[in-house]
Amino acid sequence: MAETRPLDVAPVPAEDYTEFRLVASRQFHADPIPDSPPDAVWRNALYESQRLTAAWSDGKIVATYRCWDDQLAVPGATLTADLISTVTVSPTHRRMGLLTAMIRPDLLRAKESGTAVAYLIAAAAPIYGRFGFGAAVEHARWTVDADPALFQLSDESASLTVELGDDRELRTIAPDVYDAAYRGAPGAIARDGVWWDGTLGLADLSDDRKGPRYTIVVRDETKTAVGYARYNVKESSTQRVDTSELTVHDLAATTPAAYARLWAFLASIDLTSTLTAGDRPVSEPLPWLLSDRRGARQSERADFGWIRILDVVAALEARRYATAGTVVLDVLDPSGLAGGTFALHVDASGTGRVAATDGAADLTLDMSTLGSAYLGQIALQEIANAGGIAEHTDGAIARLSALLWYPATGAVTLTWF
Ligand SMILES: CC(C)(COP(=O)(O)OP(=O)(O)OC[C@H]1O[C@@H](n2cnc3c(N)ncnc32)[C@H](O)[C@@H]1OP(=O)(O)O)[C@@H](O)C(=O)NCCC(=O)NCCS
Repeated sequence: MAETRPLDVAPVPAEDYTEFRLVASRQFHADPIPDSPPDAVWRNALYESQRLTAAWSDGKIVATYRCWDDQLAVPGATLTADLISTVTVSPTHRRMGLLTAMIRPDLLRAKESGTAVAYLIAAAAPIYGRFGFGAAVEHARWTVDADPALFQLSDESASLTVELGDDRELRTIAPDVYDAAYRGAPGAIARDGVWWDGTLGLADLSDDRKGPRYTIVVRDETKTAVGYARYNVKESSTQRVDTSELTVHDLAATTPAAYARLWAFLASIDLTSTLTAGDRPVSEPLPWLLSDRRGARQSERADFGWIRILDVVAALEARRYATAGTVVLDVLDPSGLAGGTFALHVDASGTGRVAATDGAADLTLDMSTLGSAYLGQIALQEIANAGGIAEHTDGAIARLSALLWYPATGAVTLTWF
């Protein structure tokens, strides 16, 4: 039986990185394979740049928690976020408060260091609302008929050139394209060199991120790369009729013309019948490229990124707004971390100014609800329609919903972390 005394919760020293990873792998049902030497080099470099916390019982790790700072795309800007990952508690030590003992101090630390939001991908949805997180961006799988005749390309799009390449070449091209593209996709995060090396198979890792992938790069008339895609094809046929599926693993473009050219080119590759792409935005513009919009179908829609606002003033002032207006919101945060009453005033240029106020609020909402609407991808009105937001001034929910909603202008493959 598990002990009931408080367990040691502390930062993880480098000599425990392997145990940390193996314990976390077990909770996520991954193969408990020890790191190969290249894996260890890559992972140690990653962990050394991050904050690892664990709980120990009898000298063994029984809970893990990992976080680091990264740039998060928010409406019209990027913002430093506390990214949280690898949250696990051994089955022998559940419901003893270990998650709480790891996440609460981290959220407080992040707030005190001036970080306005925390961000994570929830393995299970019921866990994080109590800590003030709200589901803020969704992802989906798209399936597209591999029929180039469906695509109606503009002259600009058709004039772009497409090059075939490989992951090694992509390493020098993709980071700049992605860096420009993700900024228009609220909920997407920046990717650093360690991420690119690991994902593109250049770190000699033994896990499944390595593997044969084909790449294409789209260039404009100045030869500047404006888009790329990584894919592979699973070959199959029925009675000699090709049923092969092309899977897009990553796709980013800096312009709508490049985006259209990428998809149209992928659809033109012979000996494939369908394209699929996971971890894509739910608002992917794909159907609007096609003469028959049913040629692109969405499935597996689910929540992806969850936001926890740690500083309402800083978070709301960091993003842009698509419309002007003023709303006073009362934000409930039982943890005492960041709640209060705030006046949000957005001017005609889309700049928001926020001030704590003693004045009467137009509406009252939970911190998790504000988090869900913060990235501008989920309408506050949609959440309000399910109840849970108290309106004190007629029309306040509709006004705040209109203020917070923001169109995504980029469509990148969302990054797991
Ligand atoms: C989810 C997990 C980390 C929770 O850890 P824990 O140490 O048991 O959590 P705590 O004891 O601190 O519980 C805090 C609160 O969350 C609740 N809670 C914890 N896990 C929950 C779950 N899966 N579903 C619903 N509520 C949960 C607890 O009941 C407790 O509520 P209370 O304060 O009202 O009593 C742990 O169950 C786990 O490792 N699960 C498998 C891996 C996983 O899902 N990780 C999440 C990755 S994003």
